[in-house]
Amino acid sequence: MNKILITGAAGFIGFKLTEKLINKENKLYLIDNLSRGKFDNSFKNILKNRNVKFLKKDLTKKLIFTEKFDYIFHLASIVGVKNVNQNPLQTIKNNILSTENIIRSIKDKKKTKLIFFSTSEVYAALSEENKIFKPSEEKNNLLVLESTKPRDSYFLSKLICEKIVSLSGFKYIILRPHNIYGPRMGHSHVIPELIRRIKKNQKCKIYSPNHTRAFCYVDDAINQIIKLSFHSKAYDSIYNIGNMKEEIKIINLAKKIKAIVNKKCVLIKSKITPGSPKRRVPNMRKTINKTKIKNFTNLNNGLIQTFKWYNYEKN
Ligand SMILES: NC(=O)c1ccc[n+]([C@@H]2O[C@H](COP(=O)([O-])OP(=O)(O)OC[C@H]3O[C@@H](n4cnc5c(N)ncnc54)[C@H](O)[C@@H]3O)[C@@H](O)[C@H]2O)c1
Repeated sequence: MNKILITGAAGFIGFKLTEKLINKENKLYLIDNLSRGKFDNSFKNILKNRNVKFLKKDLTKKLIFTEKFDYIFHLASIVGVKNVNQNPLQTIKNNILSTENIIRSIKDKKKTKLIFFSTSEVYAALSEENKIFKPSEEKNNLLVLESTKPRDSYFLSKLICEKIVSLSGFKYIILRPHNIYGPRMGHSHVIPELIRRIKKNQKCKIYSPNHTRAFCYVDDAINQIIKLSFHSKAYDSIYNIGNMKEEIKIINLAKKIKAIVNKKCVLIKSKITPGSPKRRVPNMRKTINKTKIKNFTNLNNGLIQTFKWYNYEKN
């Protein structure tokens, strides 16, 4: 039986990953401090499974485990542009300290595999400086700009953690997710925000309208994450997680959502959000080579699933 620790398990991706890993072969240990993750009915339901244990814990505090884990999926992090901008120093402290504590808590590093969730934001300065016009690739050298914005605290904390993880002595995988979306992703992301604003208003400002993104439905992301993590030859390397097939301008995304929401809302092109990269598209060659996953959920279908969830959500 695999003993698997999942941090940030009550969050968007952590919850979906947990759901997918529940089976007779896995014993799951979940940690979350519920700062952003939800203790909702969906989460309570997975806790009914006898192979799942949940610990409400702040990972910035010292950790002692009696269990020996086969895999650690470390997702816990402060995320979200608004959150990060309001708490840049807290973001750095939380993300680095929780990673350090996870690493220090495991004595026998040879047995445990560590899967660390970094971010596509590590490529942001490269694209901002127009140093790369192509989809971001894992082998790109990265760039840190001379100027400093509060938002930098997120990608810098992840970049430092990438280095900490790769020097930690664990067998590791570093994942860089690119715009994952789907049900239960919280409210402060572009897709749920557009759904809410288009539903509610007669006029809707669209920020960074000509910036492009490539969105990846959460189920596709989870399939990639699981394939890589259980592939013995995928280790000690970095992988993009995402879907490069349907790059779309934010204004066109808003039009698609408007059609799904079926409201007569006027979309008005507005200003650029500070720090928003012009283009965020992953090069998926390396991940596809390892996972052999080539088919992805079509954006329209994924948006419909997401809209249904937000439309019926009771919270
Ligand atoms: N969703 C995306 O598109 C995306 C993109 C890039 C990177 N990522 C990375 O993937 C991971 C998961 O992202 P998500 O979208 O599910 O975010 P999320 O906010 O939904 O989940 C993160 C979880 O970590 C928990 N947490 C934060 N600090 C903690 C601490 N000190 N101790 C214990 N728990 C703590 C939060 O309560 C939350 O439940 C994160 O590391 C994030 O940086 C996600």
